[in-house]
Amino acid sequence: MSKKVIVINHKIQNFNKSIKVSGDKSLSIRWVLFASIAKGLSIAKNLLLSEDVFAAIEAIRKLGIKVKISKNSCSIIGKGINGYKYKKNILIDGKNSGTLSRLILGLLIDTPYKIKLIGDRSLSRRDFERVALPLRKFGAKIKLHNKKNLPLTIQGSNNLKPIKYLENKGSAQCKSTVILAALKTNGTTLIKAKKSRNHTELLCKDLNLPLKVISKNTFDYIKVNKVNLIKPLKYVIPSDISSSAFFMVLTALTKNSKLLIKNVNINPSRTGVVTILKKMGVKIRYKNIKKYNGELISNIFIQSSNKIKPINCPKELVSGAIDEFLVIFLVAAKADGISYFKGLAELNQKESPRLIWGEKILNLMGIKTMTTNDSIKIFGNPQLVINKKIIIKNFLKDHRVFMTSVIAALSFGGNWKIYDKNSINTSFPSFLKIINDLKN
Ligand code: S3P
Repeated sequence: MSKKVIVINHKIQNFNKSIKVSGDKSLSIRWVLFASIAKGLSIAKNLLLSEDVFAAIEAIRKLGIKVKISKNSCSIIGKGINGYKYKKNILIDGKNSGTLSRLILGLLIDTPYKIKLIGDRSLSRRDFERVALPLRKFGAKIKLHNKKNLPLTIQGSNNLKPIKYLENKGSAQCKSTVILAALKTNGTTLIKAKKSRNHTELLCKDLNLPLKVISKNTFDYIKVNKVNLIKPLKYVIPSDISSSAFFMVLTALTKNSKLLIKNVNINPSRTGVVTILKKMGVKIRYKNIKKYNGELISNIFIQSSNKIKPINCPKELVSGAIDEFLVIFLVAAKADGISYFKGLAELNQKESPRLIWGEKILNLMGIKTMTTNDSIKIFGNPQLVINKKIIIKNFLKDHRVFMTSVIAALSFGGNWKIYDKNSINTSFPSFLKIINDLKN
């Protein structure tokens, strides 16, 4: 059997354990990028050591920044906001990471030479026009393949103009790219952004950077000014709630089980999955909430659920659970009734078209669905037992499709053959090890 395939023929036995998942991906990439423009030695503990974060580290190394990684920490020696030093014609490889590839463009807004940005097959089909449009307004020249995709080239300007920008997709990547560019631009940039994860804003606040946020209903109004000096950042990265979500769902769906997940980032812009699962009757509690570097952190305690309620999921919860829907759909598969999720168009813009893949997995499991391009109705079956053979091969090697399929196999049974095991290395290399720990 190829090392890339995993075969699962049995449900997991009940468990009562405590686990620690790896560091948050969004925060790890942001820390690397901010440390690269700070002046002096930044140190992070619990940085996620995954392919997406290594791609960020390789990218800043290409820009002349020194990085040292040891078992317990990562050190970056930044040379200040204008400290990148590199030769002409460099190439940056964003690999699979949308966050890295979009955010770094904000930092390259003033690059004197052309820089080429490439990515893997999945990243190369994703939309980069969404960040090219505002960055061109600042004054950068950006050429995209087919007007929308990678590879792209960026050449910055030394005469940047602040912009007014409306972000109405709820994309934290677009918002953060513009914030980073604004930190390098004279004058005040004004952003009106549909609410989305706010790690970039909290990092700016923690570092005392000139950024102000006013929140009104579903939008944030953000003012950003140029910064001259960023202090180095000492940071302990909390665990990733998106990685934790797989284990929350596995616990909820496995009889007589309990799980404590330690030190998870519970930033309210990320906890949509907890709110949704609670509404569906799953027992989840926070234990010992703390604040560190402006981010909320807590242990999360989950118990199995005997009865799962269907949900009519409010649109406002979408952005806070955007990376968790595939695995949330598995809970809806077990609900006693029809669940309805709407406002999900962005799901098809991810590493693979995830709304389509969500439907595919559910249908293979024998669950009826009705989908449009931005919604899904899931006809839950509390008695669901799978006896057949299911093969999952996602040609874009989407890590969340792989991990969701593993959770489905362990929760519902059946004979599963799931391809592209290596995809977990982008975001959660220890995923299968934790599964094994729960089995023993
Ligand atoms: C991310 C934002 C989200 C999310 C992605 C990480 C970030 O993407 O899906 O996994 O770190 O800012 P969008 O900004 O495209 O919604």
